[in-house]
Amino acid sequence: MARTAEEHLSPPSVQGDAYVHSSVYTDPDIFGEEEEKILRRTWKFVCHVSEVAEVGDFRAHQWTGVPLVTVRGNDDGIRTFVNTCSHRGAKIVREPAGNMKHMTCFFHMWEYDLFGNCTYQPRGEAYEELGPAREDLSLREIRTDVFAGLVFINFDGAAESLRDYIGEAGEPFEEIFNNHELEVFHYNQTHVRGNWKAWYLTNCDLYHEWSHLVNRTTSVLTPGYHDRPWRMQRNGHGYNAHLIDGSPFQVQYKKYKSWKNRDDLVFKGLAPGEFRVTDIFPNLSVFFRATCIRLNHSTPIAPGHTIMEERGLGIKGESKEDRRSRSKQFIQIWGPFSRNASEDCAYVEATHACQENGANPYDLMSRVEYFEDQVHERIHSDAYLRHFYGEWGRLMGRPANNPRNFMAAAE
Ligand code: FES
Ligand SMILES: [Fe+2]
Repeated sequence: MARTAEEHLSPPSVQGDAYVHSSVYTDPDIFGEEEEKILRRTWKFVCHVSEVAEVGDFRAHQWTGVPLVTVRGNDDGIRTFVNTCSHRGAKIVREPAGNMKHMTCFFHMWEYDLFGNCTYQPRGEAYEELGPAREDLSLREIRTDVFAGLVFINFDGAAESLRDYIGEAGEPFEEIFNNHELEVFHYNQTHVRGNWKAWYLTNCDLYHEWSHLVNRTTSVLTPGYHDRPWRMQRNGHGYNAHLIDGSPFQVQYKKYKSWKNRDDLVFKGLAPGEFRVTDIFPNLSVFFRATCIRLNHSTPIAPGHTIMEERGLGIKGESKEDRRSRSKQFIQIWGPFSRNASEDCAYVEATHACQENGANPYDLMSRVEYFEDQVHERIHSDAYLRHFYGEWGRLMGRPANNPRNFMAAAE
């Protein structure tokens, strides 16, 4: 029998960590609090080192609405500055990427070097009377560090080091990234009408792989697929890399249309066809598909507006022919015209449309499928979703299933 309105609005009859309230995806106050308590206190992925390879190479970006610029300095160090002029606050670097010798603000032409020092003010002697001194006008620097070629920032100067933050969650990708000199060959942004967590968790909800025809054909119905355990890590990270017996999970690409198996151009350290995903809290997913690496990250703009970014990595110096094959294999699965990522956008937008008008009050994540050891959960368990919201609740200081204490207020 269909549920009544009252039943529909009542919390699901499952344990408390097995569902969240939809307001976590739609409420502007919760979004603002997430910026403060999560996004400005955890390590945020910016780009791959190959995108700032030369002295002066930069990428302008933003995080929690704050304009930032990440640049490689004359000493080869990679730094990030708040991208706003110390004079009257104009945004200084206005191109998304490029190379610069110094930063010049276009409003009154103040100049900054790549260390953030203010080095020139037109007719600057007029500041001698009232000040401030030029050395007090440098840009604000944001903590920046690199792990396995991935550049991260953290607004919180007191946060643990990047290496400690990632911890053992780096195991599935660090060695493989360090086996090659990698470079970004594919980049795209997609505006998604949905919440940043919903986007990220789509990468961590492998139960939905059934719905992608390509995943169903090449993976879900192949031997070993369900023998992969979730491996949870501290700080809200997790990964699924190997089968429970330690052997690699190999996707059978040739089962789909005219595709070929991925047994050449495979990154050193992976088996032919091998598939791995690592999820770094709060919103970076690192994928391997034997010959392709995808970095998937997002920038939250508003509760229902997320810019997701996809990067494809190849081996620097590989032949044009190899790059063409690798690129083709990448865009078969990922990118805006792919058989997978484009469908994920549709799933996220479909859920958001029902959450923002209150039609769907709860997001259910109660799947549990244990291995015989009764410890590890299989790949179609919602184990990571619950793990993510456990960390979210810890940092927010409120449970995701009742974030506004709406049930208490109603009593
Ligand atoms: S605001 Fe930048 S030079 Fe005036
Ligand atoms: Fe998907």
